[in-house]
Amino acid sequence: MSMIYLDNAATSYPKPEDTYVFMDRFFRSHGVNPGRSGYDLCMEAGQLVDDTRRQLTRFFNGTDPDRLVFTYNSTDALNLALFGMLSPGDHAITTTVEHNSVLRPLHHLSQYHGVEVDRVPFDGRGFVDPGDIAARFKPNTRVVAMNHGSNVIGTVQPVAEVGRLCRERGIRFVVDSSQTAGKIPIDVQAMHVDVLAFTGHKSLMGPTGIGGLYVQPHVDIRHTRAGGTGVRSAHPFHLDEYPWRLEYGTPNVLGIAGLHAGVSWLEQQGLAAIEAHEMRLLRRLVEGLRGIPNVTMYCQDDLADHIAVMVFNVDGFEAGNTGTILDVDHNIACRTGLHCAPLVHAQLGLDAIKGAVRFGIGPFNTDAHIEAAIGAVGEIAAARAAKAR
Ligand SMILES: Cc1ncc(COP(=O)(O)O)c(C=O)c1O
Repeated sequence: MSMIYLDNAATSYPKPEDTYVFMDRFFRSHGVNPGRSGYDLCMEAGQLVDDTRRQLTRFFNGTDPDRLVFTYNSTDALNLALFGMLSPGDHAITTTVEHNSVLRPLHHLSQYHGVEVDRVPFDGRGFVDPGDIAARFKPNTRVVAMNHGSNVIGTVQPVAEVGRLCRERGIRFVVDSSQTAGKIPIDVQAMHVDVLAFTGHKSLMGPTGIGGLYVQPHVDIRHTRAGGTGVRSAHPFHLDEYPWRLEYGTPNVLGIAGLHAGVSWLEQQGLAAIEAHEMRLLRRLVEGLRGIPNVTMYCQDDLADHIAVMVFNVDGFEAGNTGTILDVDHNIACRTGLHCAPLVHAQLGLDAIKGAVRFGIGPFNTDAHIEAAIGAVGEIAAARAAKAR
């Protein structure tokens, strides 16, 4: 059997055929530097960049496409946002469900830039209580930075409620949508999100190297970099106007083309249909693994408010060993370890280095993939139990 790819939480693979075809065609026909000159090709390449700003602004229900800026990925986007919003003496609140793309910038800010950071734990089901966040609000709280969907336990956090509480207090709400953008609908207005960070290569079905921020019109982020913008070049400082304010140098126009095609594909399929497919597979996977003695899953009780990501361990077996056997003996690709979210594993009491095994389901997974994964884990668990006897 050819490889079964269950590592979609790391990056989606394969991409829709449309993404490959459009990128190839665009790169050959329009692979020039957009927005820098007046010849037709350059203008057309710039038009695609602007169309994609509009497309993603619509996709997230934003209002101003100029406030949709492109970055390399969500790590880059979150760094721009957090370093551009927090100053010495500020207080920031985050959670223990975060990826290092939020934890580490905030740690740097706390260690070197005089920002105080609070980390709110999740409950036994994997959810952060908005009340626990509000309980930590202080007069100098500037930012709440929070994960939308966990890349480890798959829980979808109550961001709309947290956003509402932040808005009431004038605290800026930054949301990391790396795992949810393209999986479930995101409405920055209804969810009171001030700054949304997204990555293009996961469920938005684009290539690696492209991501971005949507910054609400009432919010400003300081520029923490400076460079070429292609316009008003005589100005000695980096431009204050969006989108240039947060874009530096030649954009990843090929990545933007791929992202454009990926999002168009999602719009054709409909997010609801994709979500229903992935969640049906997740339910079957969890049910199958639940039936195997010696397999422990984490935070997978009723799968409400969940994306199609889950972690487990075979009791008595290191996650890395399970992953190696899945790969070598069963040709199943997954991810093991801490998944760049060490505090989730710490709070679950998992090994601080070895962590857990993760399956991430994508739109191209099938029932056969899931049955093969259940069978493979069953064999590994049975072999481990026999050895222990
Ligand atoms: C929840 C979460 N946030 C942030 C990131 C970082 O994404 P990128 O590597 O594309 O910057 C990831 C990627 O694994 C993630 O799962």
